[in-house]
Amino acid sequence: MRKVFSLSNPSKQSPGFIYLLLCICKSSLPFFCQACHHATGCMLTLCRIEEEAMAYKESLSTRHDLFLESLLQKGTYTKLYSYTYLLNGVAVHVESEEVFSILKNAAGVRAIHEDVKMEKLTTYTPDFLGIPAGVWPVLGGAKSSGEGVVIGLIDTGINPYHPSFANNSSLGSLNSTKFRGKCTTGKKFPPSACNGKIVAAHYFARAAINAGDFNATRDFASPFDADGHGSHTASTAAGNHQIPVIANGFNYGYASGMAPGASRIAVYKALYTFGGYMSDVVAAVDQAVEDGVDILSLSIGPSSVPPGPSAFLNVLEMELLFATKAGILVVQAAGNGGPSSSSVLSFSPWITSVAASITDRKYNNTIILGNGQSFSGTGLAPSTAGEAPFPIAAAVDVSHGNITNIVEVESCQHPVYFIKSLVREKLIICTYTFEYEDVNIATVEDTIKKIGAAGFIITMDPDIGSEQIKGTTMTMQVPAIILNNMQASSALWEYYNSNTIRSRSGQAVVFAARARILDGRQALFTAQAPIVASYSSRGPDVNNALLQTADVLKPNIMAPGSSIWAAWSPNSEGDPNIKGKNFALVSGTSMATPHIAGIAALIKQKHPKWSPAAIASAMMTTADTTDHAGSNILAQSTNQLTPATPFDMGAGSINPARAIDPGLIFDAHFEHYVEFLCAVPGVDDDSVRRAAGIGCPIRRGAWCSDLNTASVTVSNLVGSRKVVRCVTNVSRRNEEYRVTVREPIGVNVTVTPKVFWIRGNASRHLRIMLKATRVTRTHRFGEIVLHGSRNHIVRVPVAVYVSTTLKC
Ligand SMILES: *[C@@H]1O[C@H](CO)[C@@H](O)[C@H](O)[C@H]1NC(C)=O
Ligand SMILES: *[C@@H]1O[C@H](CO)[C@@H](O)[C@H](O)[C@H]1NC(C)=O
Ligand SMILES: *[C@@H]1O[C@H](CO)[C@@H](O)[C@H](O)[C@H]1NC(C)=O
Ligand SMILES: *[C@@H]1O[C@H](CO)[C@@H](O)[C@H](O)[C@H]1NC(C)=O
Ligand SMILES: *[C@@H]1O[C@H](CO)[C@@H](O)[C@H](O)[C@H]1NC(C)=O
Ligand SMILES: *[C@@H]1O[C@H](CO)[C@@H](O)[C@H](O)[C@H]1NC(C)=O
Ligand SMILES: *[C@@H]1O[C@H](CO)[C@@H](O)[C@H](O)[C@H]1NC(C)=O
Ligand SMILES: *[C@@H]1O[C@H](CO)[C@@H](O)[C@H](O)[C@H]1NC(C)=O
Ligand SMILES: *[C@@H]1O[C@H](CO)[C@@H](O)[C@H](O)[C@H]1NC(C)=O
Repeated sequence: MRKVFSLSNPSKQSPGFIYLLLCICKSSLPFFCQACHHATGCMLTLCRIEEEAMAYKESLSTRHDLFLESLLQKGTYTKLYSYTYLLNGVAVHVESEEVFSILKNAAGVRAIHEDVKMEKLTTYTPDFLGIPAGVWPVLGGAKSSGEGVVIGLIDTGINPYHPSFANNSSLGSLNSTKFRGKCTTGKKFPPSACNGKIVAAHYFARAAINAGDFNATRDFASPFDADGHGSHTASTAAGNHQIPVIANGFNYGYASGMAPGASRIAVYKALYTFGGYMSDVVAAVDQAVEDGVDILSLSIGPSSVPPGPSAFLNVLEMELLFATKAGILVVQAAGNGGPSSSSVLSFSPWITSVAASITDRKYNNTIILGNGQSFSGTGLAPSTAGEAPFPIAAAVDVSHGNITNIVEVESCQHPVYFIKSLVREKLIICTYTFEYEDVNIATVEDTIKKIGAAGFIITMDPDIGSEQIKGTTMTMQVPAIILNNMQASSALWEYYNSNTIRSRSGQAVVFAARARILDGRQALFTAQAPIVASYSSRGPDVNNALLQTADVLKPNIMAPGSSIWAAWSPNSEGDPNIKGKNFALVSGTSMATPHIAGIAALIKQKHPKWSPAAIASAMMTTADTTDHAGSNILAQSTNQLTPATPFDMGAGSINPARAIDPGLIFDAHFEHYVEFLCAVPGVDDDSVRRAAGIGCPIRRGAWCSDLNTASVTVSNLVGSRKVVRCVTNVSRRNEEYRVTVREPIGVNVTVTPKVFWIRGNASRHLRIMLKATRVTRTHRFGEIVLHGSRNHIVRVPVAVYVSTTLKC
């Protein structure tokens, strides 16, 4: 029996193991690499000789073992990992509170955290974003875009057999002095899987195995992707250019990664079909940073914001802060908890949190009834043959009469109920219902194929909202339509019932109702776009379990996330609707995230010296706040479209062509993030020192809003506040900037200077004075825009909550 315990907030999913962060660098122990960057960890980059680094890692790991042995009885714990690169710590699995409390109180233990569960936050998009015309030419064409940049993905692994990851003959070897990743081989992952496009691959499963969630048959003990999610995200970030998307023998178009040419993919598998554990994810990040990746893409998040006085001090957040310190831009999915407010799962200011938009591509299908009525629905399925309508029949009317479970028949879940001679050449009406576990459209299609009917029509059970249908974007082999709206469903039934002749006993004898289904695989490019997707998680940012809002803008930026075509893994056990396919059309902030990771790789290629904050700033200040028609971007909310705010889309929709040349940037470094942590209400000097390794500046009393981000967020304005920003000139063009302000309701905003000029590579301060003029008791939004005389536009979103106008 596993004994589950918890540190603070008991959570249902508490797996019963914990992290330990040991303070070893501080004590004067004889290690090879003495020069620790920060007291919690030693940066191995300082060990120039690889053998030295290896020896150091081993000695640290041995020390962790000795430490545990000295405290605990054999058999009462399992060490899962020694973290040796960014963090000096271990993950151990213990099963009793007694053991836990020994560890917690042991000398040398700096911090201890309970593990939390992680979840996956589940082409034509480059054209939609304007990349082929705007960015690739600048970088020497699609072929060399991303040259020398390595994107690390913490995900479900990769399908190395997919054409999106093939080693093109033109691909040279990686020209990088700092990347030294290697490949772990294993099941379906031979040495040849690391082919030059894929430059590193590892998997981390010790926590999953210890928790009993890892199934070697299903999950593959190798970097191979047995889910599909990881291949999808990797191909979106850096998959090859112009790969034909073929599903069920139909060509849906061509897919291409954002940085398709020479950018490389490093794979760190830490997520599985069931999800994953933070201790595996931390091990993956540690390895990625040690390998020397340039960008880290995480299409995953914790199942909830970790509890505790400040979520920012959580182990994973600290690990990602140290990755940022090492010069790596961390991009993470915002979460799929929208449209509820404060639903972001990615919350720290050093991370670029990505919101998802719907694009202008739309698939819709049409059914034309014999009486001339026609209805729209979904279903990526072929049309019925020819122009002639086919007879339609309700599932119950073409099944054996001796059935007891009518619902199972109506929902077309099994072929045995049907009378084959009756279904031939007919379109069968099936009903979507939740009476079964795992009901899905794939089973319906399977039934229809097996019984040899002409196709199917899915109607809605009035008890189910259409939003909840799983598999509406699944590709199908037989003609089909999903009438995911009640009105169309009712109209179809009415037409069917009035045209079906029944015997006295009620049995259908003449099927006179007819219909034909059009081709649902043709994309339409007419939709208004981009629009914030309803599921995309929203701000304001929260910093702890009490849901106190932080002075941090979240999400940061938006990219396409809905109905994204990209690579898949045919071995996928995850979603039956896309099982066995090589490409999948899926949605989520998971899908938006690698778009940003790929675009960040292009910026990194152009500006190799830029810090993570500089790249994030470049993407944010140049983002679009208007859609393709020039109107303000809208957001899908519960039942309507509302004007999108920075809490929906961050600074706006990514504009790669402009992000590569932002004019000015807002930069920030490790010590600034530490100052931010020191300013978080409820966080004391000691907890910052234990988590980050350095203490707070002597002069405290700064605000979180002082962090030099490309946004201004004040969640509790009392009277007035001065916010200082520092801009750096990264342009070579001679230019002068003029400041304009759109004030949020209830706040007077003045920026000085109003007009300025900065030397190349130099910085200057902007003083932003916020004065409350009216109590709002809600966040109101505005913006500060710096207009360059040569077309640079630097846009800074402003979000302010006025609690009181008086300062007392
Ligand atoms: C590798 O990169 C260095 C520095 O960026 C450059 O000087 C060199 O020419 C490159 N080598 C190749 C083979 O591209
Ligand atoms: C790509 O494949 C070729 C032939 O298999 C190989 O010679 C080449 O080294 C590979 N490229 C890289 C960058 O590994
Ligand atoms: C492991 O996965 C395989 C394949 O999906 C399945 O058949 C088997 O029942 C699973 N085993 C356990 C113990 O869940
Ligand atoms: C890579 O290979 C694919 C498939 O052969 C090809 O279509 C594509 O243009 C190639 N080039 C790049 C840069 O991806
Ligand atoms: C589906 O497409 C047809 C034809 O292009 C169009 O008339 C119809 O309005 C569309 N339906 C929806 C729901 O977008
Ligand atoms: C129902 O009847 C059909 C043939 O009339 C028969 O093949 C089938 O086994 C029966 N099913 C049940 C559950 O009795
Ligand atoms: C904002 O405050 C400044 C300085 O106090 C003042 O000059 C300006 O008129 C105010 N603006 C508005 C719109 O009230
Ligand atoms: C930035 O630096 C460049 C090069 O020194 C200069 O030409 C340009 O005017 C500067 N831009 C601003 C806004 O000061
Ligand atoms: C800033 O410095 C870099 C090299 O350090 C140089 O290439 C660049 O032109 C400079 N930028 C400006 C605006 O002067």
